[in-house]
Amino acid sequence: MCGIVGYVGRQRAATIMIEGLKRLEYRGYDSAGLAVLQNGGLTVVKTVGRVAALAKLAAGKKLSGTSGISHTRWATHGGVTDANAHPHLSSDGQVALVHNGVIENYVAIKKFLLTKGYNFASETDTEVLANLIAYHLAKEPENSPEGPRFLNAVRKTLLHVEGTYGIAVLSPAHPDQLVAARKGSPLILGVGDQEYLIASDVSALVSRTQNVVYLKDGELVHITTGGFTLNTLDLADISPVIDKVTWAVDEAELGDYPHFMLKEIFEQPQALENAMRGRFSADGSSANFGGLNLTAADFRQIDRFVFTSCGTGWHACLVAEHLIERYARIPVEVDYASEFRYRNAPLDRNALFFVVSQSGETIDTLAALREAKRKGYKCMAICNVVGSTIAREADGGIYQHAGPEIGVASTKAFTSQLLISSMFALYVARMRDLSFADGVEYVAGLRRVPDLARRALEQAPHIREIALRYARFNDFLFLGRLSLFPIALEGALKLKEISYIHAEGYPAAEMKHGPIALISEQCPSVFLVPKGELFNKVVSSMQEIKARKGLIIAIAPDSVELPEGLADELITIPDCHEAALPILATIPVQLLSYYIAVARKCDVDKPRNLAKSVTVE
Ligand code: M6R
Repeated sequence: MCGIVGYVGRQRAATIMIEGLKRLEYRGYDSAGLAVLQNGGLTVVKTVGRVAALAKLAAGKKLSGTSGISHTRWATHGGVTDANAHPHLSSDGQVALVHNGVIENYVAIKKFLLTKGYNFASETDTEVLANLIAYHLAKEPENSPEGPRFLNAVRKTLLHVEGTYGIAVLSPAHPDQLVAARKGSPLILGVGDQEYLIASDVSALVSRTQNVVYLKDGELVHITTGGFTLNTLDLADISPVIDKVTWAVDEAELGDYPHFMLKEIFEQPQALENAMRGRFSADGSSANFGGLNLTAADFRQIDRFVFTSCGTGWHACLVAEHLIERYARIPVEVDYASEFRYRNAPLDRNALFFVVSQSGETIDTLAALREAKRKGYKCMAICNVVGSTIAREADGGIYQHAGPEIGVASTKAFTSQLLISSMFALYVARMRDLSFADGVEYVAGLRRVPDLARRALEQAPHIREIALRYARFNDFLFLGRLSLFPIALEGALKLKEISYIHAEGYPAAEMKHGPIALISEQCPSVFLVPKGELFNKVVSSMQEIKARKGLIIAIAPDSVELPEGLADELITIPDCHEAALPILATIPVQLLSYYIAVARKCDVDKPRNLAKSVTVE
């Protein structure tokens, strides 16, 4: 949450930073601000609202400085006001700082600083950092054997800080320098041509450089126009490892689409192809996951998988649970990452952990990973963002290769997680009792998924018409069974997130144990209809709704025949292998939510109160 962009180089920092902030805006969009070093001082511009408002304000100022820091905010401490927007200045004007994260001991630090004569202009936890750095800067000698004065002042400040941070700091007494540091909040250094950038997300850097250094927790970088050094808080030098970002700039651009969410929904066939590329075994009966670093013998020892994640990723875990238990017959436990880390669950000796995260930066998921590792378990990651903290800290994993996902509402990352889950279920099933012939049929079924997804997307105009008719309702139920129950949860989450409509996901048969009380002409139900043995049961649930005058939108495979007049609206999806059904059923619920949100004039890519990646607890 929140985005940081900093720059030291030869170009106008403000222009470069605003371009970077625009790419980061999906991380938080309450307010935005920047500070540049120029004419021996700091010029700060900040405002409530979007980056566009900041750009407008900045255009009216003469911002020629070539070093700067900037921020787009998702409020934690303190309301959405100009004063609470970043950058924050120390009260002596010697330090400007932007911050992602939460300073937990800010009250104690503030008390101390007030006794030293520092003042506060905002309600944020961040401002204590600016003042504490100024305090240390004032005390720091010019030629300390411990290294550069500015770096030391930041370092000494961070030794007193509890909580999480990604920070970038400027000081007018140290022109053309920038110090940045991280603990629990991502930060990446971009190494360009005679310029350096710091950002909380690679998407802000890729238009200027593809060479990056991923900072680790406890590391500080000191950037000058001539180069940079990497240190730890206890002054150890670190040799930087420069990685190459493989994303192309245009992958993170809208192109002809009105919203990233729609673009990413339509990118799903490609994302699904990327997820499966090179991952089927040569004999066509199983999958391969080299990145797990585990042999078949290792898998034989495992008697339980534990999957943890948050939000949409947690729904993917539920599908993984269903498929692994169904095909591989190995017990699976699914936990919210935020709960797992605190509930001290008793665990089997031979459990293998998986965390699922698009961004690889979600703090609760990262904490769950660390907790599992602390207890001595191997922990794998299913992750989209290469080089993210979770990807780096996991013992092994599976990259999704879905490309950048910018829309706050996760779409292509989710179906790619579903596909990887179904491939993983096959992988372990083939090490156990799934026959060669069944494996071959399973692989053939999954190989068809990208094409079937293209066909499912052809329903978009029909779904749009339905959405226009249903956009006026304020309550929805989403109902499904077995592997389609998580898709009901996901459909309800999507609708809540982007259209602010109250929606609940339930196992279809549970509906009569309570939620049926909600049914009326004013509360439509979206049914995810399966084929096979549960078809008739789901039809019975639909009849129960119909008997109470409830409206029904049915999403059903091509070949099923619903009783005449039962569904008010029918959206078909192509027939497919059972392991692929959750993927194809997801596409209509995404489109339905999208078109309803658009009809209600909601800001689809920047829904209120949300941010793409939740890096605070
Ligand atoms: O980046 P992650 O997959 O770890 O994010 C987890 C959730 O925050 C995320 O899925 C969230 O629920 C999305 N807004 C869903 O659309």
